[in-house]
Amino acid sequence: MATVNDNYLKLKAGYLFPEIARRVAAFTEANPDAPVIKLGIGDVTEPLPQACREAMIAAVNDMGDRGSFKGYGPEQGYLWLRDAIAKHDFQARGCDIDASEIFVSDGAKCDSGNILDIFGHDNTIAVTDPVYPVYVDTNVMAGNTGEADDSGKYGGLTYIPISAENNFTAAIPDTKVDLIYLCFPNNPTGATATKEQLQAWVDYARANGSIIFFDAAYEAFITDDSLPHSIFEIEGARDCAIEFRSFSKNAGFTGTRCAFTVVPKGLTAKAADGSEVELWKLWNRRQCTKFNGVSYIVQRGAEAVYSEAGQAQIKELIAFYLENAAIVREQLTAAGMDVFGGVNAPYVWVKAPNGLSSWDFFDKLLHTCNVVGTPGSGFGAAGEGYFRISAFNSRENVVEAMKRITEKFSV
Ligand code: MLT
Repeated sequence: MATVNDNYLKLKAGYLFPEIARRVAAFTEANPDAPVIKLGIGDVTEPLPQACREAMIAAVNDMGDRGSFKGYGPEQGYLWLRDAIAKHDFQARGCDIDASEIFVSDGAKCDSGNILDIFGHDNTIAVTDPVYPVYVDTNVMAGNTGEADDSGKYGGLTYIPISAENNFTAAIPDTKVDLIYLCFPNNPTGATATKEQLQAWVDYARANGSIIFFDAAYEAFITDDSLPHSIFEIEGARDCAIEFRSFSKNAGFTGTRCAFTVVPKGLTAKAADGSEVELWKLWNRRQCTKFNGVSYIVQRGAEAVYSEAGQAQIKELIAFYLENAAIVREQLTAAGMDVFGGVNAPYVWVKAPNGLSSWDFFDKLLHTCNVVGTPGSGFGAAGEGYFRISAFNSRENVVEAMKRITEKFSV
């Protein structure tokens, strides 16, 4: 009989978001008329920017004409999109990143898991706790961890606690780790990292030959000019970092799918024979073999994000979600809850009231307020007792959800 990848059997329960969806589905089946408001998964609700839609419509028309029809595109993405990304997202911020170092893809989640294809299985790996569960689960699937303990922590991973006690900053480990996952603005806590904090990570990584996987999917929500949007704003990051970016949250592409990963040329890791191998070459090889690129139509839509109209429209979208986050913060603070994040990020991290556990608060909110959030413990043991509220929803729903929560849960 064929065998399975036993590493999958080490995974705890379901992936967090499907597990939430399962509980919500069971609730709505039993209560079909309940007016459920979902502030759980960070999925956008507002329509795609007009500039993107128009560009995609024009691209569909290109596909209807033999002269402009496109078959397979470059696996790395079309150069016009990579050029626009390099210029606007990096060079305009003083980052030394070239279009050839950008790999367009269908998602930052996919890339942050797929990147493990090009790394060995003997690396020591650090993640924050709480953490975006994809970083952990993909390492479990790849066989890079041991079993999970009762608190859900996997053997072989180094967990860096981030909490209110350390102001949600990830402390540099005092031991050597080879791969480090950092996400700023942070999912789930909504915390941000200063240039000095990222510089300390880059210095650590360079001193230890480590690679930082920097997830900047939420960088567009940074409104504080002093905060870095990219790890490549930090001196020395080209020698130690790979960055994941996405059009999902800034331009509403969660259902449209477009993202990119930046792998600087010259960034290396060690082969079994001790030689240094360029990661760009391996990632390029991986993508050429396992990926056929993002559709031409979607890439044209993504390119339009960088047009004058596109920039103005995404600014409006981001401001809209940030205003939602501000409403969540204000209302829950006024109700006496401890509230974090949600200023330069679309996520608000809340201490569950009355000492409730994360899942107890989830169930109570669902049953008494018909509001869905994300239990903090789903992001790691240190998230226990916390709860994440996403600002991605209509204004009407956010206002209504806050009204229901504050009526029932004033502390
Ligand atoms: C989340 O809610 O954490 C995100 O939506 C997940 C994702 O972007 O994959």
